[in-house]
Amino acid sequence: MTEQPTILTGIRANSELTLGNFLGALIPMVRLANTHSNNYHINIFTPDLHSIISDIDGELQQNIIKSLKNYLAAGLNLTENVHFYRQSHVPAHSELCWILNCVTSMGDLNRMTQYKDKSDGKDSVNVGIFDYPVLMAADILLYDAEYVPVGEDQFQHLELTRRVAEKFNKQYVDIFTLPVEPKKQVEFMQVGEAIRIRDLQNPEKKMSKSTKSENSKIMLTDTPEQVKKKIMSATTDSVGKISFDMFNQPGISNLLQIDALVNDMPLQDVISTWSGETHYGDLKQKVAEDVAAFLGEFQRKLATISDDEVLTLLQKGEIYANEVANAKLLEVQKAFHLR
Ligand code: TYM
Repeated sequence: MTEQPTILTGIRANSELTLGNFLGALIPMVRLANTHSNNYHINIFTPDLHSIISDIDGELQQNIIKSLKNYLAAGLNLTENVHFYRQSHVPAHSELCWILNCVTSMGDLNRMTQYKDKSDGKDSVNVGIFDYPVLMAADILLYDAEYVPVGEDQFQHLELTRRVAEKFNKQYVDIFTLPVEPKKQVEFMQVGEAIRIRDLQNPEKKMSKSTKSENSKIMLTDTPEQVKKKIMSATTDSVGKISFDMFNQPGISNLLQIDALVNDMPLQDVISTWSGETHYGDLKQKVAEDVAAFLGEFQRKLATISDDEVLTLLQKGEIYANEVANAKLLEVQKAFHLR
C-alpha cells in the first residue's frame, strides 16, 4: 500500500489561518500534490490533538472542515493518491507518540524553540506543549513520509523527528524512513528560501495567528481594503534602497518573498525586478494589489466548496490512514515485544 513514497503535511485548525500558514505550508503542499500525485501519496491531515495544547473555542469541528476546504480552494487536484484525515481519528498516532516518548530524551525536547516560546513567562505549562514534537514525529513516521512541506518554524521539529527515527532504527529495528533534511525539503519545494513569513509590524518575528495586533497579520478572510491597509503600514527600514536581506531589511525582504509566492514566481526574479529601487511605497502598493487579487480569487473558490465534499474525503481518507498507520504501529509494537 505504501510502495509509493509519501508527502505529508498538517496545519492546526484552532482558528482562521494566516497568510503565513497559507504560503508556508498550504500552497507548497498544493503545488507539490498537483505535480507529484502520480507517484507519491499525498497525506493532508488536521493535527486536532495538537490543537488542544491551547484553549480551543468550541468551534474546532467547524474549523477543521474549514481548514481542509482551504486546500480545495487553493487548487488542489483530487486524485486517488490524495488522502484527507484527522489525527484523532487515527488512534495509532497517539500510541506511537507514547512509544516514541520512551526513545526521546528530555534534553532534546527542552531545546525546542517553540516550547521555550510557548512556556516563556508562564507559571504552569501543560505536558502536551512539551511533548508536542514527539506527536509530530509520530504523525510523520507512521507513514514513512519523505517530504514534509512546512514553514521554517517547524524545521527544528523535523530535525528532531529525524533524530528520534535514527535512534529507534539503530536501537531496535530499522523500520522508519527518515524524512529528508530541511535543506533538501526546501529544494524539493522549489521556493528558493525556507519560508518564514514575517509579522508585518515586527518583522523580526514570524507572522502568527496568536499575535494580538491585527495589523501584524493577514488573515485568509481579509478584504482587499484590509490587505491594503495592513501592507501599506508594514514596518520597513531606513536603508532607503530595496534589497533582499532578511537580516538588515527583514520588512522589505518579507514583502519580496510574499510577492514571489502569491505570483508563483521564482524569488530571484522578484528580487531582480526590485533591487536598487528606492520607493518603498511602490513595492508596498504592488504587493498589496497582488495579495488582494490572490486572496480574492481564493475566497471566491472557497465559497463554492461544501462541508459534505470534505466529509466524504475524510471518510475515505481515514480508512486509508488507519490501514497504513496500524500496519506500521504493529511493526513497532513487535519491536518492543508488545505483540
Ligand atoms: P501550525 O499549525 O502552527 O502551522 C501550520 C503550518 O504553517 C506554517 N507557518 C508558517 N510558515 C511560514 N511563515 C509563517 N509565518 C508561518 N506560520 C505558520 C508552519 O510552519 C506549518 O507548516 N506542528 C505543526 C503541525 C503539525 C505537522 C505535523 C506538520 C503537526 N504534525 C506533521 C507537518 C507534519 C504546527 O504547529 O503547525
